[in-house]
Amino acid sequence: MDQYKLMEILKTKGKVKAVVQSWKSKGYTIGLVPTMGALHEGHLQLVRRSLIENDKTICSIFVNPLQFNKKEDLDKYPDTFEQDLQFLEKEGCDIVFAPEAEAFYEGVGANYYDFGLLGTVMEAQHRPGHFEGVAAVVKELFLAIMPQKAYFGEKDFQQLSIIKWLRTTEQFPIEIVGCDTVRSGRGLALSSRNLRLTEKALLTAAEIYATLNFCRNNVVIFDPQTLVEHAIAKLNQNCEVEYFEIVDEETFERVEEWEETTCPRAFVVVHLEGVRLIDNLSLNP
Ligand code: PAF
Repeated sequence: MDQYKLMEILKTKGKVKAVVQSWKSKGYTIGLVPTMGALHEGHLQLVRRSLIENDKTICSIFVNPLQFNKKEDLDKYPDTFEQDLQFLEKEGCDIVFAPEAEAFYEGVGANYYDFGLLGTVMEAQHRPGHFEGVAAVVKELFLAIMPQKAYFGEKDFQQLSIIKWLRTTEQFPIEIVGCDTVRSGRGLALSSRNLRLTEKALLTAAEIYATLNFCRNNVVIFDPQTLVEHAIAKLNQNCEVEYFEIVDEETFERVEEWEETTCPRAFVVVHLEGVRLIDNLSLNP
């Protein structure tokens, strides 16, 4: 790891806190980009935005065991650590925080959060315990670094809402910056999991975004439930739909009539070649 001349790689909260303290004493602003590694262009755009908006940028790479409700998912999670470091050094990231799980959670008590509806629908319903795990890691990262801004992708829109909820509940003085989903040329939302798809599946997966766009373009023609039924039928031809929902993007209430909401958003999860793919799109024009 000595090859990284400009970027420091830190493994403990103690070390990261010491650097952060020295930066803050000099009046530097700090941006944090939390990741689980296997970095792609989506992550790098978050890093670039942080580099522009802050004096210093920290990217955390930590495959957080608490947020995997299935052990096989954790075991299959891609590990491209050396390549991640090369990408981050090239971007000009200042620090990579890559802790070990045991030390990271040492002495950390459990949180008992009630996320409300956010904590019972869609991802929360289909991945029990997932958001509790996300909140645990993000809270610890925030406590250790307390950046001015933290960057998250809209691909995981419900996660982004959970993190905004956490910021408000814990009164962290941190701006949560949600960034647009980055897509491949065919429209597939970039994800570390895409690495596990064959070329054929990558072609099929493009139907996810096409279906979301179909919904956006047909809001005036169909009621929400009919649109959901069309979308599921279309996607089920080549993938296995886990859920497809249209909800209000602020309250997460399911939309039964368009008049009930000013901000409908479609959320989808499909399985393809054993890979779980997630996406969402605002249905406002
Ligand atoms: O979106 C992710 O990569 C993870 O859920 C996060 C926010 C880094 C927490 O582990």
